[in-house]
Amino acid sequence: MDLNKVREIAKDRMKGYCRVCPVCDGRACAGQVPGIGGTGTGSAFSANLNALAKVKLNLRTIHEAVNPDLSIAVFGEKLNTPILAAPITGASINMGGAISEREMVDAMLQGTLAAGSLGMTGDTGVPSMYDDGLAGIRAVNGRGIPFIKPRSNDEIKKRIEKAEEAGALAVGVDVDGAGLITMALNGQPVGPKSFKDIKELVSFTELPFIIKGIMTADEAETVAAAGVSAIVISNHGGRVLDYAQGAARVLPAIADRLDGKLTIFADGGVRAGTDVLKLLALGADAVLVGRPLIIGAFGGDREGVKLTIETYTKQLLQAMILTGTAKASDVPQGVVVS
Ligand SMILES: Cc1cc2nc3c(=O)[nH]c(=O)nc-3n(C[C@H](O)[C@H](O)[C@H](O)COP(=O)(O)O)c2cc1C
Repeated sequence: MDLNKVREIAKDRMKGYCRVCPVCDGRACAGQVPGIGGTGTGSAFSANLNALAKVKLNLRTIHEAVNPDLSIAVFGEKLNTPILAAPITGASINMGGAISEREMVDAMLQGTLAAGSLGMTGDTGVPSMYDDGLAGIRAVNGRGIPFIKPRSNDEIKKRIEKAEEAGALAVGVDVDGAGLITMALNGQPVGPKSFKDIKELVSFTELPFIIKGIMTADEAETVAAAGVSAIVISNHGGRVLDYAQGAARVLPAIADRLDGKLTIFADGGVRAGTDVLKLLALGADAVLVGRPLIIGAFGGDREGVKLTIETYTKQLLQAMILTGTAKASDVPQGVVVS
């Protein structure tokens, strides 16, 4: 199996929900939420790619980084690559349903594990989808991280307890889902969270707690003070707020403000190993990938996901050699020019 074949099969199976474009930049699917696109004009989806494209790499080959070390540690787990699967839900709502939610989750979690990495799962207005994610996490002995929508704290706590029972490595809330009117229409209200709300959730569980959807340094500082273990710098793949900034643009200021206090994940528009290196140099500890892994799952099940992660990892290795970067866990800022 190669990636061209995976893409060909995915295109057929996603029935136009995703057109598997030569460049996955949100143009063809602008406004398609539900669907695979970014909300409104698709500007926030494209902003992720544009912000990454503006960052350039410094080519350097007079050095001793002959065999760069790609490994990183996340919550005590050693990973072979800093590239993880982002939480994704809605195989039927967003992608046409050629595979079931559980099949998609299994492909993501098992494919990433086979590549020496980790996957995450999500939550929607259809409550069974969160449970599908947890069933998948249970099936891989807890080696996955579920994300819960910003429901009431009582509803979140019920889902944290389920995550604990499933043996999950950590648990998170994607706070940027705060404006999802579709959730309210489904009788599942969501909304913004206060410092106090987050503190209450952090102290409710022993699991490392992650907040996903941070895009400003002051909010990063607030959630750090509330005791979270990690943040995901993300605009939700451009799916929640039209004209939101790209993740790569806001990342350096946030990383600067946090100064190593928390684990920083970043996502949005990662389409090659060079994008991964850029985000690591801008201050991320690890990177999440969304849509390309959906294509992997629909086109090649767990093998398609594994192959995508491995391809990006090989590209990352090559880019590290060509920039003199010895360790993925410690990428100097000077690797990039913004
Ligand atoms: C179809 C689809 C469903 C998603 N579902 C979730 C979800 O349930 N929870 C969540 O936190 N993020 C969700 N996301 C956002 C991703 O986790 C991630 O932030 C985003 O896809 C990264 O951008 P990329 O697709 O350009 O790599 C979803 C994204 C897509 C495209």
